[in-house]
Amino acid sequence: MRINGRAYRTIFLADEAGTVAVIDQTRLPFEFELRHLHRATDAAVAIRDMVVRGAPLIGVTAAYGLALAMRENPGDAMLRHAVKELAATRPTAVNLRWALARMESALRKVPPPQRFARAYQEAAALAEEDVAACEAIGRHGLHLIAALAKRKHEGVPVQVLTHCNAGWLACVDWGTALAPVYAAHEAGIPVHVWVDETRPRSQGSFLTAFELGAHGVPHTVIADNTGGHLMQHGRVDLCLVGSDRTTATGDVANKIGTYLKALAARDNGVPFYAALPTSTIDWSMSDGVGEIPIEERSVREVTYVRGRLGSGALADVEIVAPGSAVANPGFDVTPARLVTGIVTERGVAEASREGLLRLYPERKEDVR
Ligand code: MRU
Repeated sequence: MRINGRAYRTIFLADEAGTVAVIDQTRLPFEFELRHLHRATDAAVAIRDMVVRGAPLIGVTAAYGLALAMRENPGDAMLRHAVKELAATRPTAVNLRWALARMESALRKVPPPQRFARAYQEAAALAEEDVAACEAIGRHGLHLIAALAKRKHEGVPVQVLTHCNAGWLACVDWGTALAPVYAAHEAGIPVHVWVDETRPRSQGSFLTAFELGAHGVPHTVIADNTGGHLMQHGRVDLCLVGSDRTTATGDVANKIGTYLKALAARDNGVPFYAALPTSTIDWSMSDGVGEIPIEERSVREVTYVRGRLGSGALADVEIVAPGSAVANPGFDVTPARLVTGIVTERGVAEASREGLLRLYPERKEDVR
């Protein structure tokens, strides 16, 4: 997608030697900076510190992290060590483990001297597959937006509410939840996005607003508590979110606060869809609330808010009474019963074991 008229992906090779470049998402929207990753540890730190974030991008960065490890040393000990280091960075997005498992299996099949080339080839394949999946999600999700547009007077925008950032910055390109929005915008369907601010890290007001703005998609940033009110007043046609892990039964883990939007959507008859690539489905899990590991993040994300001062400098400002206990779970689970449908690169599925298996019949044996 484009920034200042130039096409970017969130992750790409910076040179022929295999150095990896990522967009530093801790600086957006105020500063645009690339960060270079030279070693597997750099990739692990980038994921842990959320220089890159969003389930699909975490997976692809981990894949390139293993490629960097093979550049350092293609031996078994390094492979084992790098897989462990990268897997320990963030627990909820299953794309991380999925990407590492796929890379490790490809690398173990070849002797060490061939691993450098094989690792970059496989990481590039993962990145390309993610782009293709997101593009296809956009095509399938476009039908949902187009159907809602038909019920409106000409020129009246379809009102989409989204939470966190599930746009191209969370993937390699296009995005998951925002891919249908971009597709609609490109198809000339008027669309407006309500952007949940998404405290504590403000992925909505920082990243979603930034990327929608860069593409000229009309949007309005709202405080996290506003969505229910808007839905009560008929000002939301569709909730569209991403996911970090979706169970085989259609329970959807996503950024903390997503569940509350799904409850409000159900109470107000607003359709609630999750858009995700196949790599986000955890076929081994059937009870999202009971089984999906929820990342506990630093309380500092709650006690301080990051922003730009009048001087232009970025600063963290304390916003909680000193001494108060603080908790910061990073994700929550929306049970399948509140999810109208799941948009994947294969199409739109009912959020249930049966619905997902209709799209993925080959997974019948894996599902409990
Ligand atoms: O903590 P983050 O910023 O990595 O969380 C991101 C989200 O919750 C996204 O909605 C999710 O990863 C889907 S991304 C296409």
